[in-house]
Amino acid sequence: MWGSRSIRRSTGIDSQIHGEYHWRTVGANGLWLAEPLDGADTLVIFLFALLHDSMRENDGRDPQHGPRAAVFAGELHAEGLLPVTPPQLELLQHACHEHTNGFISTDPTVGACWDADRLDLPRVWITPDPALLSTARAHEALPEHRRVPDWETLYAAATGTTSSGASSAAETGFEIK
Ligand SMILES: [Fe+2]
Repeated sequence: MWGSRSIRRSTGIDSQIHGEYHWRTVGANGLWLAEPLDGADTLVIFLFALLHDSMRENDGRDPQHGPRAAVFAGELHAEGLLPVTPPQLELLQHACHEHTNGFISTDPTVGACWDADRLDLPRVWITPDPALLSTARAHEALPEHRRVPDWETLYAAATGTTSSGASSAAETGFEIK
């Protein structure tokens, strides 16, 4: 599927810090953050989780990895591999391009993307700066005992479908206790 093809082309997937487990955590965070938001685009949030760190070349200083991720998203879209409209692609590319530049956003989708990433900073023993959180829910404690879902579960939750493709209520679809 398109997701697995994008993942295979990543330069950063194997990182213990910025790799695939972190991406799924960002996806879970982002969908949780989006629940109370009006107008948050959960498919864009899902794709941000998948792609934002996918072009990292190292786990240290790599200030161009966000812009590279934005370019990668554009390439995937041009190849017909990203199921998004041009406005969604623009939002996704903006969120990826700027995600390490210390901004906040009033756009619910972009805000959820950036907060979802920042809420995973404690994995590297950094407490997120409350002044750099865009969404109200990001100031709440993350759900405890949460299991990080697999990609299929995240995608189903992001698109309001079951993993078999049938339509379901647009609930998170994964366990957040
Ligand atoms: Fe990240």
